[in-house]
Amino acid sequence: MSHDTLPAVDLRSDTVTRPSPEMRRAIAEAEVGDAVLGDDPTARELEEHAAALLGKERALFFPSGIMANQTALLVQGQPGTEAVIDAGGHILNWEEAAAAAWGGLLLRAVTTPDGLLTPELTAAAIRPRSPYLTQTSLVCLENTHNGAGGRVLPPEQARAVADVAHERGLAVHLDGARLANASVASGHTLAELAAPADTVMLALSKGLGAPVGSMLAGTAETMERAWRVRRRLGGGMRQAGILAAAGLYGLRHNLPKLADDHRRAKVLAARIGALPGVSVAIPETNIVMVDLEDARLEPAALLAALERRGTRMTQFGPRRLRAVTHLDVDDAGIERAAAAWDEVVAEALR
Ligand SMILES: Cc1ncc(COP(=O)(O)O)c(C=O)c1O
Repeated sequence: MSHDTLPAVDLRSDTVTRPSPEMRRAIAEAEVGDAVLGDDPTARELEEHAAALLGKERALFFPSGIMANQTALLVQGQPGTEAVIDAGGHILNWEEAAAAAWGGLLLRAVTTPDGLLTPELTAAAIRPRSPYLTQTSLVCLENTHNGAGGRVLPPEQARAVADVAHERGLAVHLDGARLANASVASGHTLAELAAPADTVMLALSKGLGAPVGSMLAGTAETMERAWRVRRRLGGGMRQAGILAAAGLYGLRHNLPKLADDHRRAKVLAARIGALPGVSVAIPETNIVMVDLEDARLEPAALLAALERRGTRMTQFGPRRLRAVTHLDVDDAGIERAAAAWDEVVAEALR
């Protein structure tokens, strides 16, 4: 088949996956009720399953990761205070300034070498107690770190940061949109990775392949308050079991497959990284960042040339492109993407 007849190798994000026939069957067969009234058995099963996996007392099913992250900030951050976060964090850069808009929180951006907060940087960013200085109420972590190319935050580092926060009486929220990737890559369980945090978000709609949804987990008391905030934000879903069934399927069947995504991301990174004019770090998980070093490699033109060859990626900085591997890209897709890169770079540097 030619490029024209094959579907595109869509590496724009791991959110582009379509539910598999088996996942669609699980959706079709889901037993449902009214989840806002508390009697949707599939939504309840998902919430119980996720709480157990994440090692927390209770988990809640949300329509999106942003709503789950922002609910965590609303229940744990105080309006008129700061939340410490790495400068490249999703909550800071890609959530429509929701922390300020809804929560009255100022996000205090900390520049880190690799996207990962350290205990030293966190301690320096937390304001001293003072009647005059703006005060800090929260510390936000991200694992894996999207902006840093899917870096895994090691649990001992998360623990050291959380210890600094907790010693100061601050809460810790973990944006674990891709915590499942961190778990598969590091060999640590989700619960081990989530343990240092008071609340954790886990996305079902990324590498796990579900069409919609994220979990927020924490103590029963925090989740009781989160339940009200979810409803206040309009996130109470009725026959939520239809969507929860997909999430359950993803957690049970797709989680181990993330290892294939990571292997394929490494292959793609090595192939692109071997080309002239680009610089590519070998990723730990499923996110490949390509830095265009040669001025003749122009991001928009390169993306268009790749698209013409059936490969889709996104721009992730002035001279940086991003590819994300997922369930719907197989080894042949990676080979096609790598071959497209061979051609477009050769053409641009001719
Ligand atoms: C690290 C991280 N956190 C949060 C989100 C938000 O998730 P959603 O798109 O489901 O709102 C994303 C989405 O890409 C993400 O990458």
